[in-house]
Amino acid sequence: MATLTMEVEATQSRNRQLHIWVAQIAQLCKPDRVYWCSGSPDEYQAMLRLMIQSGVAIPLNPAKRPDSVLVRSDPGDVARVEDRTFICSQNKADAGPTNNWEDPAAMKARLSELYSGSMAGRTMYVIPYSMGPIGSPIANIGVEVTDSAYVVANMHLMARVGANVLAALGDDGEFVRGLHSLGAPLSPNQQDSTWPCNAEHKYICHFPETREVWSYGSGYGGNALLGKKCHALRIASVQARDEGWLAEHMLILKLINPSGQVKYLTGAFPSACGKTNLAMLIPTIPGWKVETIGDDIAWMKFGADGRLYAINPEYGFFGVAPGTGVKSNPNAMLTVAKKSIFTNCAMTPDGDIWWEGMTEEKPTELVDWLRRPWAPDSGRRAAHPNARFTTPAGQCPVIAAEWEDPKGVPIDAILFGGRRAGIVPLVTESFNWQHGTFLGATASSETTAASAGKVGQLRRDPMAMLPFCGYHMGDYFAHYLKVGERSTASKLPKIFYVNWFRQDEHGKFLWPGYGENSRVLKWIFERCDGKAHATDTAIGRLPEPADLDTAGLNIPPANLAKLLSVDVQGWLEEVPRIRDHFAKFGDRMPKGLQDEVSALEQRLKAAKK
Ligand code: OXD
Ligand code: MN
Repeated sequence: MATLTMEVEATQSRNRQLHIWVAQIAQLCKPDRVYWCSGSPDEYQAMLRLMIQSGVAIPLNPAKRPDSVLVRSDPGDVARVEDRTFICSQNKADAGPTNNWEDPAAMKARLSELYSGSMAGRTMYVIPYSMGPIGSPIANIGVEVTDSAYVVANMHLMARVGANVLAALGDDGEFVRGLHSLGAPLSPNQQDSTWPCNAEHKYICHFPETREVWSYGSGYGGNALLGKKCHALRIASVQARDEGWLAEHMLILKLINPSGQVKYLTGAFPSACGKTNLAMLIPTIPGWKVETIGDDIAWMKFGADGRLYAINPEYGFFGVAPGTGVKSNPNAMLTVAKKSIFTNCAMTPDGDIWWEGMTEEKPTELVDWLRRPWAPDSGRRAAHPNARFTTPAGQCPVIAAEWEDPKGVPIDAILFGGRRAGIVPLVTESFNWQHGTFLGATASSETTAASAGKVGQLRRDPMAMLPFCGYHMGDYFAHYLKVGERSTASKLPKIFYVNWFRQDEHGKFLWPGYGENSRVLKWIFERCDGKAHATDTAIGRLPEPADLDTAGLNIPPANLAKLLSVDVQGWLEEVPRIRDHFAKFGDRMPKGLQDEVSALEQRLKAAKK
């Protein structure tokens, strides 16, 4: 059994740049000691033990949920902090209007003061990690330095970490540098808290030109597990722009038809649109199967054959727990049956976890995420709405056999989507790559009647990348168009836009969603083979009701007709909203997408006549 005094020989890596950088950080942050992570199972257990013995984590009942712990965070540190997230590019204009910007030198000077001595009394862990299967031509190596054992344990589940990564890095390999400190130094006799952080001074800073992340003050999720949003999206989106590939906020799924033929799909959806559920969907159409490759991020590069190949750079799922249940996503529930870390969930009297939506009936008694006794009539939620599970992807019962294939999987279709009560049909196929890019660039979600005062409020979230694009979004759109020019139309993925959330005039969802979404996936699959029928409309290519397989689906024909109808007047009213959205990106907005707005308007006007 490993102990925390067992350190992997730092000399295991002869990467000079890595040693110089780690020594500099140690000098600045002044930890008690430096520990190089090996990535071994013993090390993972040692981290859990440390968290348990120091009161950070509670072991769950092994008869209920083996090898799992519950951690409760500081109530001031419960989510990603977009207002404290910065893109510190050399030029302000390169960060664009959707990111916070600071001058890199000024930000580094400010943060260096905060980092000075910030790890006192703590261990500094050095975590070499690979985003993607080690050695894959699409993968990328990073090193995160952190003073949080919770981060080390989570990184073990979310990325490939340790000695194998150092070996792949070699003596002179390049790596993304991630510095993370909780900002909670300890004086010699000070007792530690169960969730050390610095809730008042959080900074999540990205230096895209030098491929660095400096994160301070938060121990939570994407703020602290730097391989995920910081590296795999914000920094990687810049790498992808520079090198001609795509780093996207997308699930990857494998769709298998009854004769065993396969298509690979990616899908980008803003939060609260069911990305993890779609990645693990159980089709209701007999004979069809979905298998999972990834639930959050896709990196796609061109293969020699001119097709785009995707890997899931992650090794686990960091999923939103509330709303995940045996009904909504049985595969996710089976994934978290063991070896998982739960954060900000409630605890049952028999030592298991619970959250809203896990079971139909609420337990009669819990300790909530705020460590307070809870009963159904307490009048508050038992789990925090952003409570999370961290769990190995390999535990998912429908993980595809090829999910770790270093060459990736060839993508047949890209789905964009959002939550729209009106006008946006159930599914629309783009006319071509440029039009598909336009659909992604205009992706939007609106708040529903459930949230008072905000009905119909539209939020544009282009390609679901609004909080994650590491550079000017106008340039990002231009990059998409350039990617489309690098191959022939027949080899590029087809692009679709889906909306599971269209409502009738009484606010009732027209489409049942969940496993029934497989009916739309089937149409997409067959469109990729040029088999299913579609009709050209002003907004794109749509199935007619008879084109969708609705056998066994109890849906009123009028609902289906509405789901697949084009509301020409509604779309004409949408055009100026799209123009306003694009105007934000000024002269960096590519002409190709401006042309698409005009073409849409022309087609709509013609359809109205
Ligand atoms: C996530 C997110 O955690 O998108 O995946 O916020
Ligand atoms: Mn995400």
